[in-house]
Amino acid sequence: MHDRPATGQAAMSTRPVRLSRIAEQMTASTIREILKVTQRPDIISFAGGLPAPELFPLEEVRAATGAVLDRYGPAALQYSTTEGHPPLRAWLGDRAGVPAQNVQIVSGSQQGLDLLGRVLLDPGDLVAVENPTYLGALQALRPYGARFVAVPTDDDGISPDGLDALLAEQPVRLLYAIPTFQNPTGRTLSRERREALLDVAERHDLLIIEDGPYSDLRFRGQAQPSLFELALARAGGDIESVRVISLGTFSKTLVPGLRDAWVLAPGAVIDKLVQAKQGADLHSPTLNQMIIAELVEEVLPRQIARVREAYGQRCAAMLAALAERSPAGVHWTRPEGGMFLWLTLPEGLDAEKLLISAVEAGVAFVPGASFFAAPGEGANTMRLSYVTVPEDRIRAGVGVLADLIDQRR
Ligand SMILES: Cc1ncc(COP(=O)(O)O)c(C=O)c1O
Repeated sequence: MHDRPATGQAAMSTRPVRLSRIAEQMTASTIREILKVTQRPDIISFAGGLPAPELFPLEEVRAATGAVLDRYGPAALQYSTTEGHPPLRAWLGDRAGVPAQNVQIVSGSQQGLDLLGRVLLDPGDLVAVENPTYLGALQALRPYGARFVAVPTDDDGISPDGLDALLAEQPVRLLYAIPTFQNPTGRTLSRERREALLDVAERHDLLIIEDGPYSDLRFRGQAQPSLFELALARAGGDIESVRVISLGTFSKTLVPGLRDAWVLAPGAVIDKLVQAKQGADLHSPTLNQMIIAELVEEVLPRQIARVREAYGQRCAAMLAALAERSPAGVHWTRPEGGMFLWLTLPEGLDAEKLLISAVEAGVAFVPGASFFAAPGEGANTMRLSYVTVPEDRIRAGVGVLADLIDQRR
């Protein structure tokens, strides 16, 4: 009896688990696989999307954690409301000039994108995106059936006229945009274009999701109001008639690991986000929200200044190295803030192929094609992050890339 093979078990182990259609559409990125090696310390990696860890306010977080546990006791470790920790919502609402009820705390703006997809999209809806755009937004919205359509962009970001023409042709459900220090290009939309974009959106009754994780990280140039701020001013401060939903995060200014971010939206959207979030995770971690609330008054402004200064220096080092080496036929953006710079190689040069040689030579970057909604675009582009690499290594890394590019021309 005991010699008999456990037929049931054998059959089960060979039968694949049946996955959903949505899961079947998700694919592992080959680039991600190549980039795994970039975690090796000998590699100069411009590929990362992570903030610089040496700037994290470790001691301040330690002190805030103690203070919060002392003040709230077990309540700091208890379930809490789906909308978010009231003092944190109040602070965010005050800062944005909207009531606290219009603030929803989310576990990273990445969750904000997921929940917004859930409450705003029906399968097949057209979502207009910058071309290129943040890959994580495509990943978050695609499972809800979003079909992406590219808004024409140029060196100054989204073209309002291009958007106007697009909206005249197609029934676009919403625009997802990163107007300030965009990921992946580092571009920022001018004040004029912001106003023009809102004019177009109003004319077509277009809903906009404005994602602003880098907005506080300006290290040069003049500050720009967000689309949300401009739209709120146009609406006389009445958020209920504003058609821009704003996503913000503490990930790039304080720390990403606490996963604390927020959505500003009209009440009807917030109500649905609350229901969607209950299904997703009930609420964002209570303790994390309390810690962040403890840090926003004094530590956050100091931290923003610190991060801006360091990133500004590293960006300047990368721009100087590029200017010095000036690989022929290569163009790059000159960010005024944020974490990324975008490089366009001469037509015909393939950034994915270049990555393989670059990694062999000890340098990594992200090939740009993965940031485009449609396959086959941007083969000659790449994203470089300057924030986690010391300045001397930035110079060395840019030198290696410039040599490789020059050899291929
Ligand atoms: C444009 C953009 N949106 C959202 C996110 C996600 O940030 P969070 O840590 O708040 O989830 C990122 C992270 O890199 C990003 O670049």
